[in-house]
Amino acid sequence: MRATVQVQKFNPETDAAPRLREYQLDVAWRGNTVLDALFQIKHELDGSLTFRASCRSAICGSCPMVINGRERLACQTLVADEIDRCGRIEVRPLRQMRVIKDLAVELDPFWGKVRAITPYLTPKPNRDAVALPQDVEGGFHNVDACIMCGACVSACSSLEVSPGFLGPAALAKAYRFVADPREGRTRDRLESLGGEHGIWDCVRCNFCVEVCPKDVKPMEAIIRLRREALREGLTDHPGARHITTFMAIVRREGRLNEARMPVAMVWPNLRRMLAIVPLGIRMFLKGKVPAWFHRPIPGIREIRRLFDARETSK
Ligand code: SF4
Ligand code: SF4
Ligand code: FES
Repeated sequence: MRATVQVQKFNPETDAAPRLREYQLDVAWRGNTVLDALFQIKHELDGSLTFRASCRSAICGSCPMVINGRERLACQTLVADEIDRCGRIEVRPLRQMRVIKDLAVELDPFWGKVRAITPYLTPKPNRDAVALPQDVEGGFHNVDACIMCGACVSACSSLEVSPGFLGPAALAKAYRFVADPREGRTRDRLESLGGEHGIWDCVRCNFCVEVCPKDVKPMEAIIRLRREALREGLTDHPGARHITTFMAIVRREGRLNEARMPVAMVWPNLRRMLAIVPLGIRMFLKGKVPAWFHRPIPGIREIRRLFDARETSK
């Protein structure tokens, strides 16, 4: 099979900008991976091509790249599938990370965020008293399958605008320890994860779930961390207040009250209230302020019963 492979080449020490270089390959068989193709280019056509790889078995997490626009492990992606899908193969380095050369990116910031979540167990004092339940692996919801490849970090839309965000890989790792019954600092962990650039920065775009080669579902781990934080009463963050205020209004009126929502979110913090006054005035002048008073909807008792049932089932 003949394959056209375009690879982003860039040496920051000598090149002004990245460029795509095209290679024509004879691919021996349909089972060849994109990583095989990159090695073939390196051995036969361009010895300067730089990329990372090790296990060639989707285990070590070394070879994530953007292949035909999507984060994939090069050792897990078949050349034939990509040619069938796109007619050619385009390989670029991971996004959100500085390119060292060609497809190799700087990973220090990635590992810095993993270190920031304390990626090891800090056991309860009497560790003998805390047995690891048989089904604990189910409780981790597969986050322990993460191979730290960074594909999710490359795809994360929140990181694009907020580079300080801890990101999906570090937060999925953090969930692994919050979910561990032997962990002794669960509340401290949740407190720190709920701060600036933590769990509330995720915009739930689902991209991390789509690209993860190990079905870790980082976004779902982040949602579980948010639930745990709310359960612990850690609500001093706009993201947390948005949820608690939304639920309180729906419980009272049976639907969202768009006029009360922003005020209730900042109440009784005077500084935050003053911050939304200019917006309120602009909305008032343009006739955009929604009605403040609503009658509860018919059937509100049923809705309140649902909230009560949820409270008692916790
Ligand atoms: S769901 Fe959240 S963590 Fe995952 S990619 Fe989107 S913003 Fe990032
Ligand atoms: S969560 Fe998935 S995509 Fe992200 S680092 Fe782990 S294995 Fe890679
Ligand atoms: S080379 Fe190890 S995951 Fe691809």
